[in-house]
Amino acid sequence: MILLDGKKVSEQLLEELKVEVEKLASEGKKIPHLAVILVGNNPASETYVASKIKTCERIGFKATLIRLADTVEEVNLLDKVQELNEDPEIDGFIVQSPLPKHISDDKVINAISPLKDVDGFHPENLGRMALNMPAFLPATPYGVLTLLDRYNISTAGKHCVVLGRSHIVGLPMSLLMVRNSKPGNCTVTICHSKTVDVKSHTLQADILIVATGQTESVTADMVKEGAVVVDVGISRVADASKKSGFRLAGDVKFDEVAPKCSYITPVPGGVGPMTIASLLKNTLEGVKRKIH
Ligand code: GUN
Repeated sequence: MILLDGKKVSEQLLEELKVEVEKLASEGKKIPHLAVILVGNNPASETYVASKIKTCERIGFKATLIRLADTVEEVNLLDKVQELNEDPEIDGFIVQSPLPKHISDDKVINAISPLKDVDGFHPENLGRMALNMPAFLPATPYGVLTLLDRYNISTAGKHCVVLGRSHIVGLPMSLLMVRNSKPGNCTVTICHSKTVDVKSHTLQADILIVATGQTESVTADMVKEGAVVVDVGISRVADASKKSGFRLAGDVKFDEVAPKCSYITPVPGGVGPMTIASLLKNTLEGVKRKIH
């Protein structure tokens, strides 16, 4: 069993990005500038956003955090989006989710210029991605793809089973795995909350990608011997033996599943670190106008 070390690969990616930024700077070209809109004070979002900004600074990107109160009117958020769409200094931006209930996610995503949508959530980017055209790829699935690629895991002709159909992970992940590209060219099955007998599907998976948000729900009896398992989940589980009182766990019961796998991502240190690196790669590719 080989661990898919997302921490190590993301460090390599960030180092590569840093070198590219230094080159841009030495040539007197524009330094990539990412903006993040954070509405309210959701604790998980605060952590993610702080990490995104810190990583930008580490590799030489400019980063701007725009904070809005959770009582902000939808129209004022849409105005801010429009302002960033038109600001030539900003190369890409994201609106951190979740948003407060009174704001429509769909309206906000549709308002973002596809040319600056480094999250890859706009329908135009999703469509372009599905059609194998240059597009901003959503950061988490893009990170998984890069991880598979850097470990030279062959995917063509393999059966990939994706658990979860969220717009951020499961759905784009399955489109990426079925595309005629490398990694890709899989036969893909998507399972979701209405799927009957999930285990009958997962047992056929050469590559199993789990993004259900259901902590440690994938057990050894659900996994084929020699499978590649990618765990996108991360949550806190109470653990009295830890000083913090909790440990981090994925959607896969790692200890019992890992011995059956050819490759598996750990949690933490698997998919998580790849996500931010992929967002920043998108931002740089946007600057270089490689995307549209
Ligand atoms: N919330 C959880 N993941 C993400 C992400 O990738 N992008 C944004 N904008 N919000 C998120």
